[in-house]
Amino acid sequence: MKVAIGSDHAGVQLRQEIVQMMKELGIEVVDIGCECGTSVDYPDYAVPVAEKVAKGEVDRGILICGTGIGMSIAANKVKGVRCALVHDLFSAKATRQHNDSNVLAMGERVIGPGLALEIAKVWLTTEYEGGRHGRRVDKITQYENQSV
Ligand code: RB5
Repeated sequence: MKVAIGSDHAGVQLRQEIVQMMKELGIEVVDIGCECGTSVDYPDYAVPVAEKVAKGEVDRGILICGTGIGMSIAANKVKGVRCALVHDLFSAKATRQHNDSNVLAMGERVIGPGLALEIAKVWLTTEYEGGRHGRRVDKITQYENQSV
């Protein structure tokens, strides 16, 4: 599996810990930054990661900012991206099984690193169930393809 990851200044620490964890799991990591001590703008990192997922350059994406909210809003503007903002283990599993989410967003200022790493691990290793969920995900894709 190949995963792109990005954060703003509020998510640097957690991003580095997730990168380390993914490498230990044998996942190929594309880390797009930020390498920032100063304040940066989350869309500058959300969009490149989301585009890599949408173009099929990577299998999945992970985005970290202070809340995860700005990253998830920005990533979901990219066609083909289903970004889930997740801060609990139940949702991490369910969004893979039911929504086939291809980008995960979390907020470093919301949860601690222990839970965040577990969420990332569960999200990375849970398969999409398809079936009735496929019909629902397809409806999102159909809307996306017809909207201006
Ligand atoms: C940065 O201060 C903060 O606004 C950002 O990390 C994120 O939480 C936005 O949604």
